[in-house]
Amino acid sequence: MASEVLTGKTAIITGSGQGIGSEFARSFAEAGAQVVVADLNEANAKNVATELCDGGGVALGVGVDVTDEGAVQSMLEAAVGEFGRIDVLVNGAAVFSSLIMRPFEEIDSAEWRTVMDVNVTGAFLCCQAVAPVMRRQQAGRIINISSATVLGGRPNYLHYVTSKAALVGMTRSLARELGSSGVTVNAIMPGSVETGIPRDSARPEAVEKTIASQSIPRRITSADICGSAVFLASDASRMITGQTVVVDGGTEFV
Ligand SMILES: NC(=O)c1ccc[n+]([C@@H]2O[C@H](COP(=O)([O-])OP(=O)(O)OC[C@H]3O[C@@H](n4cnc5c(N)ncnc54)[C@H](O)[C@@H]3O)[C@@H](O)[C@H]2O)c1
Repeated sequence: MASEVLTGKTAIITGSGQGIGSEFARSFAEAGAQVVVADLNEANAKNVATELCDGGGVALGVGVDVTDEGAVQSMLEAAVGEFGRIDVLVNGAAVFSSLIMRPFEEIDSAEWRTVMDVNVTGAFLCCQAVAPVMRRQQAGRIINISSATVLGGRPNYLHYVTSKAALVGMTRSLARELGSSGVTVNAIMPGSVETGIPRDSARPEAVEKTIASQSIPRRITSADICGSAVFLASDASRMITGQTVVVDGGTEFV
């Protein structure tokens, strides 16, 4: 792929204050995009944006709670105000690394609802916000970050896995609503990724087991996921919609 395949494009990446999202932001900036780094943690979002600008990129850091319609609208207005258009939305914001794994009987309804609210409703609200802009442009890319946990099932994470499965249905169905407006909607399912952020699901024994199940038996890094996101954001993927790209090193579920 040419090195600046996203030149002239504006991308909103939610959840890009840390982890995989921040690596998406770096790779999108490297590919020439203007990046809106959006995160609940505003300081992190601004730090990532500053890093990108210091490196010669173009970026805007904004604080947003994706469950709050007003905040999502403000994010959109800030992005359009700064860059004039929205070409790409990456729905990466999620309750993930802060989750404690527990049997489903022990997940209280408040925690269940929070996970659904951020991981599913948040993505829905962001799609609703960008759709009018993308329809006007007759072009756009929406990329939902699902998870390969949906394929194998993962115990003690029922709210999380369920929320990520919902994004696959959302992707498939929204693709059918937006296709005639030139907007593609796709999902990425990362396998277990080393992000540098500690989390309950990445204890050493679990990581070892995961690596052993992969056809390419090494730890997946955030950078390993970026190529698929840049591709789905680029013109090269223009006839691909409603699809889910699995980036898990070829995991065998037995
Ligand atoms: N790391 C993995 O192994 C892995 C695997 C499969 C899928 N994923 C998915 O990839 C994405 C990134 O994963 P990660 O490991 O970097 O996660 P992470 O938990 O480190 O980062 C999530 C980001 O989302 C932000 N966020 C949380 N609630 C928000 C809200 N209400 N509004 C806006 N931002 C909010 C957080 O502040 C954080 O910066 C997530 O969607 C996750 O589910 C991760």
